[in-house]
Amino acid sequence: MKLLVTGGAGFIGSAVVRLAIARGHSVVNLDALTYAACLDNVASVADHPDYAFEQADIRDRAALDRIFATHRPDAVMHLAAESHVDRSIDGPADFIATNVTGTLQMLEAARAYWTAQGKPADFRFHHISTDEVFGSLPADPAIKFTETTAYDPRSPYAASKAGSDHLVRAWHETYGLPVVLTNCSNNYGPYHFPEKLVPVIILNALAGKPLPIYGDGSNVRDWLYVEDHADALLQVIAKGAVGRSYNIGGENERSNLDLVQMLCAILDDLRPKASGSYADQISFVPDRPGHDARYAIDPRRMRDELGWRPSVTIDQGLRLTAQWYLANESWWRPLQARQGVGTRLGTKA
Ligand SMILES: NC(=O)c1ccc[n+]([C@@H]2O[C@H](COP(=O)([O-])OP(=O)(O)OC[C@H]3O[C@@H](n4cnc5c(N)ncnc54)[C@H](O)[C@@H]3O)[C@@H](O)[C@H]2O)c1
Repeated sequence: MKLLVTGGAGFIGSAVVRLAIARGHSVVNLDALTYAACLDNVASVADHPDYAFEQADIRDRAALDRIFATHRPDAVMHLAAESHVDRSIDGPADFIATNVTGTLQMLEAARAYWTAQGKPADFRFHHISTDEVFGSLPADPAIKFTETTAYDPRSPYAASKAGSDHLVRAWHETYGLPVVLTNCSNNYGPYHFPEKLVPVIILNALAGKPLPIYGDGSNVRDWLYVEDHADALLQVIAKGAVGRSYNIGGENERSNLDLVQMLCAILDDLRPKASGSYADQISFVPDRPGHDARYAIDPRRMRDELGWRPSVTIDQGLRLTAQWYLANESWWRPLQARQGVGTRLGTKA
């Protein structure tokens, strides 16, 4: 299959690109190369004959039309987005522009291309979204997000992703565009940009800096290893039913404080300090405005309809991730100099 992957120089998109090439697909990676992108993420496939890169902005309709016409993809996997909740609090406009208007342009370019091809039934527009569109769950472990949970976004980021989800469903209902949607939980793993929680904790720990925990650390997330997520996405594009959405989770609910303590224990094992534990560096900082208490995915549709389950536990995934950061300083060190990285964002509410 020839896949047009947007956001393929980012964290999850690059995992999709690497796995798709490994599985014999052709990939066109369309990315604007914002602050969050890193072409090193796809260096391992850059010279592969089935890989092409197009630097373009998803808001640029003319560029999208040219890329569709040039590469003639069988399917689109749309991951390009502004993705950091804290940045969305300080500057929501960029999130609406890319996540909502950019998705509109992607849908319109895809629809024009699909129509010109004679509306092939096996074309797919796969929209990758987040569980944050569903809002915040109570502590009761029996209550989780399903595919029919009502939308209730509470941050500018989540609202922009919710808007994009609604557009994708509308393009299916109104124009018949063959879409599939996925809403996943928090990802972690190799190539995670060093402004997100897991890499911040690993890199601050190694640097002897405080390990910042928002609020009291009780916020719960359902952690999904990025390479498992990439595998799930390729299953959905191959086998998912048109017009249907799938929630993808890691079956790994942990509070932020538990997660950080697990990472500290792993680092204590992999690279012990001269004395004490990395957990001694834990530091509680003021909470994120509107911080959702709990996200948790009911994974039954992915499991029962597509036969997919995550391959790693949180312990295994965090250990793999910590090992990767220990071995890849040349990847993360330059990214720490990028705008806003290493400073507290999301305080302008
Ligand atoms: N990271 C998570 O835990 C998570 C969880 C749920 C859903 N998602 C969704 O998955 C997708 C990928 O997330 P990620 O964590 O890999 O994000 P990321 O920020 O690491 O990467 C986003 C990529 O999109 C590109 N991009 C941004 N704006 C663009 C534009 N206007 N035109 C073209 N390219 C542009 C960036 O250059 C970057 O390479 C996003 O849609 C996000 O909402 C992420």
